[in-house]
Amino acid sequence: MEVITHFCGMTLLEKDAKYIWHPFTAQKNMPYPIAITHGKDSWLFDEQGNGYIDAISSWWVTIHGHANETIAKAIYQQAMAIEQVIFAGFTHAPAVQLAEALLPLLPGNMHKIFYSDNGSTSTEVALKMAVQFWWNKEGSHTKRTKILAFHNSYHGDTFGSMSVSDRSVFTTPFAPLFFDVVFIPTPKADNLAETIATITEHATELAAFIYEPLVQGAGGIQMYEAELLNQILEHCKSFEMICIADEVMTGFGRTGTMFASEQLTAKPDIICLSKGLTGGTMALGITACKQFIYDAFVSDDATKTFFHGHSFTANPLACTAAFTSLQLFQQNHCLEKIKIITSWNQQLIANITNLPGVINARVLGTIAAFELQQSKNNYLSSIATQITQYALSKGVFIRPLGNTVYIMPPYCITNTEYDKIVTVLLEIIKDGYR
Ligand SMILES: Cc1ncc(COP(=O)(O)O)c(C=O)c1O
Repeated sequence: MEVITHFCGMTLLEKDAKYIWHPFTAQKNMPYPIAITHGKDSWLFDEQGNGYIDAISSWWVTIHGHANETIAKAIYQQAMAIEQVIFAGFTHAPAVQLAEALLPLLPGNMHKIFYSDNGSTSTEVALKMAVQFWWNKEGSHTKRTKILAFHNSYHGDTFGSMSVSDRSVFTTPFAPLFFDVVFIPTPKADNLAETIATITEHATELAAFIYEPLVQGAGGIQMYEAELLNQILEHCKSFEMICIADEVMTGFGRTGTMFASEQLTAKPDIICLSKGLTGGTMALGITACKQFIYDAFVSDDATKTFFHGHSFTANPLACTAAFTSLQLFQQNHCLEKIKIITSWNQQLIANITNLPGVINARVLGTIAAFELQQSKNNYLSSIATQITQYALSKGVFIRPLGNTVYIMPPYCITNTEYDKIVTVLLEIIKDGYR
C-alpha cells in the first residue's frame, strides 16, 4: 500500500496541525496525533509501521475488527449501484432490509425504525419523538414536556442530548441554553426510595425517561444493577412516561447480550442505536419505536407530522454496512465469542481487584473497567494522557476517562492479543501514576 506522508514539503502531521481541529482535544500544547495508515482486525498501524491493538474499538464502534473485507465489499457494491438518495419520498433496499432484519431482534416489540446519522442524533430524535408524542396526544397545552435522566449520563453532544446528559466540563458553557431536566442518581439500593419519590413528584410533567441500560459509558463506565433499573422503569411506566433506552454504546453485544435491555424485565418504548450498528465502519443512527408512539403521528392533521430528517438520513452505504454487519454478527457466532471475552474479562478483574491502587474493578460482558487510586481525580488531569502514551509505546491503544481505565475490545480479538492488553494493564497498575 502506498502511504502518502509528505505533501508540498510538509509532513502529514504538520498539515494536520495547520488545518484540522480534533474532537475532545485541548488545542494548546496539543501533542501530534498518530497518523493511522491502515488497520486489520484488532490492529491499527501508523505511518512508521507501528501496530497498536485497539483495546477500545475506536470509541466503542469497531465490533468485527478494522478493514473488514465483507463489509468493505458490500459497501463498494452498493456504491456502484446507488450511494445516496434523498429519503423523503424515496426508499431503497438497504434501508428496508436492515429495518426488516433488525426489528425482530430488538427488545420491547419495536414497530418502526427512524434513521439518522450518529449516536447523538439517535437520542435527539428519541427526545423529539417523545415530546411530540405528548403534544400530538394532548395538544399545545400539554404539561408533559420535561425529561427524566440519570446523573452521570452521557447521551451525546447536540443540544438536546447534552441537555439530558449530566452537567460536566463538556457542557458548562452551554448550560444556560439547556431545557428542563429532572435528574435522578445512578441507581443504588440505598437511593432507590428517594428516586421513586422524585419521579412521583414530577410525574405529571415528565414526557420521557432516557437511560443507558446497565452501564453509563462516558460517565466513567459505571455499572449498575438490572433489578434497580427495572423498578425505576416500572414506576415510570405506571405514569405512562416514554422509556428511552440509549443503547448507542451497549447495543450489539457489548454487555454480553445482543442488547442490554434483554437483561431487563421492563422493556423500553424507544431504543437508540449507533456505534456498533455498522460494525463501526460508517456513521448511522437508529431510533426504533413501539407502535403506540408511531400511531400518535398518524393523523389527518399535518401539524402532527414528525418534521425531522438529515441530508444523509438512511444513507444506502451506511445501511448496507449495518445490514452486512448484522449478518456477520450471526455468521461469526459473535455471541459465543462475546462469552469467551467475558470470561477473559472476569479473570482479569479477579486478578486485579485486590492489587494496591486498584479501586472498583468491574466487568460486564466485553467491558472491563477499574479506577486507579489518585490524589487528583478528574477528567482534565493528565493521568489519562500519560497512560495512553505509555500503552501506545507498548503497542496497545486505550483511552482512560480520567482515572478510569477500561477496555472494550473488538470481538475478533485473539487470546494472544488480549493477553498483551492484560500485560500492559498490569504494568500501568504497578506504576500507579500517582
Ligand atoms: C450512550 C451514548 N449515547 C450517545 C452517544 C453519542 O454518540 P455519537 O458520539 O455517535 O454522537 C454516546 C457516545 O459515546 C454514548 O456512549
